[in-house]
This record gives sequence, structure tokens and C-alpha cells, in this order.
Amino acid sequence: MNVEEMKKAVAKEALKFIEDEMVVGLGTGSTTAYFIKYLGKLIMEGELEDVYGVPTSHQARLLALEVGGIPVVSLDEVDAIDIAVDGADEVDPHMNLIKGGRGAALTMEKIIEYRAGMFIVLVDESKLVEYLGQKMPVPIEVIPAAWRAIAEELEVFNATAELRMAVKKDGPVVTDNGNFILDAKFARIEDPLDLEIELNTIPGVVENGIFADIADIILVGTPEGVKRMER
Ligand code: 5RP
Repeated sequence: MNVEEMKKAVAKEALKFIEDEMVVGLGTGSTTAYFIKYLGKLIMEGELEDVYGVPTSHQARLLALEVGGIPVVSLDEVDAIDIAVDGADEVDPHMNLIKGGRGAALTMEKIIEYRAGMFIVLVDESKLVEYLGQKMPVPIEVIPAAWRAIAEELEVFNATAELRMAVKKDGPVVTDNGNFILDAKFARIEDPLDLEIELNTIPGVVENGIFADIADIILVGTPEGVKRMER
């Protein structure tokens, strides 16, 4: 199985958790994109009824609308989120995550996934690490006017931060919320929950990409098939 096949396999596995009348948080990224496509198809084929999707980003919303099938609603239109499904950039052995890689959607993702009755994470095995920060920086969404001050303040944490630059636009990436992203490289993150809380106390930080202690089930795509990590 190559990486794309692993992504498809975990996305298909996640469908088994979806039942009629559920409100589903729709994650962002290339792995969750398969889940959104498969979910829309199942609904259109009549296999699932009265399932609603709450997107975590413009990407997820536009994809769900393009695929069809999933009635898209926003967070303030629902009483509760039954289940959320999303990808991750790193997963440590304790099921802590780094999110917000390419998608830069970490703030809305955390808002929705924190509130979900169950949060399922979809990754291929390349995302498994011994400790958070091993391969990836921690994305931090910041108020634009504060980016430089925050980048300097992160030196206290022995981190080096870079302003994320856009690819098909001049200048920095602007998030769905109109903010900037700092990618902060930490030497080694010993206590993800502690760092997650501490980063959010810096004025001007909107949210950070450490998701400690929030995932319920992680579906890992491997060449041998889908493996499951759960609490
Ligand atoms: C976006 C995210 C994504 O879920 C994460 O970057 C993984 O993406 P992919 O499935 O494309 O590897 O957190 O904000």
C-alpha cells in the first residue's frame, strides 16, 4: 500500500463510526478529504440519513459542497457535535497531536474537535513520532500585528519561529480567520499539555497546533492495513 492508499483506507474505516442523525465535524487536509468524499457518496446513495457536517475550514466546506450529499451547517446552528474526523501532522505514543500543517486550520479544528463527543484522527504511519516536535514545527495562529513580538518571545521557550509564507500569493499565509501563522520549531516537547496551555497565555496568540489529550481514536494506515490506537 502506498501513502494515498493508506489515507483512503483510514478514511473508509472512519465511515464505520458514522450513524444516521449524527452531526459530524469535517476536518481539513488531504486525508480527511477522502473521508468527506466517501461520506457525501454514502449519503447520496441513501446509506446514511439526516447526517450534517460542520466544516473546520473553507477547504472542508467547499469540498463538501462540491461533493454533494452532506448538508453543511455551521457550529452555531447545531446543539452538539457527535463525532469529528480529522488528520494530523504528528502523533505521539500518548495520542497527543500536532495539527495545522498545510491547512493552517488549527483554530477552528480545535474549537470543533474539543466539543465533539468523539474525535477520530486519520493518519498514515509516517505521522507517528516518538515525541511531538520530532519532525514538524508547531503552527501558532497569531494576530497579524503581534507576529514579530510573539516570534521573539518564543525564544524564551528555546523555539525558533518563522512566519509562514504563501505559495500562490505574495506575503504571508492569511488564515480563514484573517490571522498569520508562525511555525515554531521546539527542541523537544516534553510536556505537550503544559506547552499547549502556556503558548495560549501569550497575548496575541489565537491558538496553537498542539492537541494534547483530545483524540479518542487514531486510525493509522500501514502497509499491513489499518491499525487502531485508543484510550
Ligand atoms: C490542517 C491539519 C491537517 O489535518 C493536517 O495538516 C494533516 O493533513 P494531511 O492529511 O493533508 O496530511 O491539521 O490544519
